[in-house]
Formats: sequence, structure tokens, C-alpha cells
Amino acid sequence: MALLSILQYPDPKLHTLARPVQAVDARIQALVADMLETMYDANGIGLAASQVDVHEQVVVIDVSEEHDTPLVLINPAIVWFSEERVLNEEGCLSVPGIYDGVERATQVRVTALDRDGQPQTLEADGLLAICIQHEMDHLLGKVFVEYLSPLKRNRIKTKMLKTRRALGKPETA
Ligand code: NI
Repeated sequence: MALLSILQYPDPKLHTLARPVQAVDARIQALVADMLETMYDANGIGLAASQVDVHEQVVVIDVSEEHDTPLVLINPAIVWFSEERVLNEEGCLSVPGIYDGVERATQVRVTALDRDGQPQTLEADGLLAICIQHEMDHLLGKVFVEYLSPLKRNRIKTKMLKTRRALGKPETA
């Protein structure tokens, strides 16, 4: 297993559309293991492959208190959204230190393959439902700050670029 480096907003590679996984083979299983390790190491509750510059439809999530209940979604599709929506403060490992309100469906039903390639259907609500929608946006090349006003988004962009410069990192890492 290995820690993967996480793309930082506004890296344009975060806007790449992820393609479906063709086969849940050893390569994908190794990616899943590395993504889980990377997510836990960064104290995140979710990570999409897009964020580690692998543009295939793989998401890992763990919203449990003990960080011992990993959920793996391969080729996920949301087949039902509740009409009821909720505004929740979100953050993202690709936009560290930034939190802002995003409105999402309170419940979703998702179909996906699990880490063994078996089909699964999942009903989710609460934080899990929000996290699934956030991670699946990444697969579409969408980062949560894109739901915010252009003014807020530009402020975040400027702040992120400044922080990166201060750390001596290149503009597109
Ligand atoms: Ni994110």
C-alpha cells in the first residue's frame, strides 16, 4: 500500500471526467487500498480517484466514528434522490481549510460495484448521503466550491494559490 498525493484546487486535472472501470482486477483493488490509506491518513471521510489523478469511477468513503467501516463504490450511479434537501457545511481534501454550505438531497439510492466487483444497492441518508453526492461530483470533474458564488470561489482560488506559493509548490502540482 502507498500514500497517494491529492490534487489541490484549482488544479485543472480535478475537472477531468472519470471513465467507468472496465474490470475490478488487482490494479483496481490496489488503487482502492491506496485510496483508503490516503483518505484515513488525511483524516478525510471520502476520496474520489479523480483527486489522486486517476480518472476512473472509484470512490472510497468512511463516515464512521471509529474509521473502521470503509465503503467502496466502483462505477456508482445515483438512481434516486429525495426531494427533500439539506444545507450542510462541506469541506474537501482537495480544498484544505475551506468549508462552506452546499445544498444536497437528504437521501439517495446508489448502485455500484463493491471492491470484489459485486453489484450492490445502497440507501443512504445523513452524512453518508451527502458524502456520496460530494464524491460522485468529483468523478464528474466537479469540486464543491463550484456550487458557491463566483465571488466566493475566486476568493478561495486566490487563497489556495497564495498558500501553495508560500509552501513553494508549483502552480499545478
Ligand atoms: Ni472532495
